[in-house]
Amino acid sequence: MTIQKVMIVGAGQMGSGVAQVCAQAGFTVLLNDMKQEFFDRGLGVITKNLSRDVEKGRKTEEEKQAILNRISMSLDLKDAVDVDIVIEAATENMDIKQSIFRELDAIAPKHAILATNTSSLPITEIAAVTERPEQVIGMHFMNPVPVMKLVEIIRGLATADEVYQSVEEMTRKLSKTPVEVNDFPGFVSNRILLPMINEAIYALYEGVATKEAIDDVMKLGMNHPMGPLTLADFIGLDTCLYIMEILHDGLGDSKYRPCPLLRKYVAAGWLGKKTGRGFYVYE
Ligand code: CAA
Repeated sequence: MTIQKVMIVGAGQMGSGVAQVCAQAGFTVLLNDMKQEFFDRGLGVITKNLSRDVEKGRKTEEEKQAILNRISMSLDLKDAVDVDIVIEAATENMDIKQSIFRELDAIAPKHAILATNTSSLPITEIAAVTERPEQVIGMHFMNPVPVMKLVEIIRGLATADEVYQSVEEMTRKLSKTPVEVNDFPGFVSNRILLPMINEAIYALYEGVATKEAIDDVMKLGMNHPMGPLTLADFIGLDTCLYIMEILHDGLGDSKYRPCPLLRKYVAAGWLGKKTGRGFYVYE
């Protein structure tokens, strides 16, 4: 199946990034959200990223305009009527995702693939509310999407081989590297990354070192681009807690218990960069 027209559901940080890389790769993109202001904000971020590419000589002004012209606004899931694939990047909540997938299943053409960018919810459970579970798949992009090379492609229990192949081919067209993963809590990325971040929070909680020292050890000693506490702020502490809870519930092992300090920060509303305060303070 040749994929040409893509709908992205959710124009937030992840959705707008996915829309940008799809439009850059020549796909026709419908960027869907519930309100025009959400679409405008997403398109604003894309425009800023592309303008930086023009300033740095990586793209011409004409190329930037051509990319932007491939992105149209959608405020109604009914616009999925003629797309080849939908990539859902809405809120990380099973009820919300299942209701979107139920609606998309009724609207999208029979051949269309329904993909989700969930970072931790079971693909199989999302697929189960549709009449096409063999065409439902996980496409987990990393933040910031325009920069990070990986797309973790997650097969649900029923995902068909042809669907996996089409999504893998599309991922390569996006200049990303696909990695195949089966449907288990946290997949591979977050099953490994989040316990590392959680352990860094435990190290802080137990007074092993200061936050700066913990981050320096991992940056300078392990060549991580960001220390784990800075990365936690960047991901969002609410998201970190949510993923730890999914690992803890889904795998039933106490080694995944979320650090009480993480719970406390989330309860305080210190959610990281997006709220101006997490482990660090942001101006
Ligand atoms: N959008 C687009 N481009 C961006 C960007 C963004 N949000 N943030 C940074 N960039 C670009 C910059 O423009 C810059 O490019 P140029 O200088 O060539 O224009 C380049 O990336 C490097 O940026 P900086 O020099 O500002 O800073 P840096 O060298 O520290 O890189 C970083 C920034 C790429 C974010 C780097 O710190 C990094 O790789 N951090 C780790 C990111 C990571 O681990 N992501 C995974 C998060 S987990 C996840 O996503 C999964 C999940 O489910 C929770």
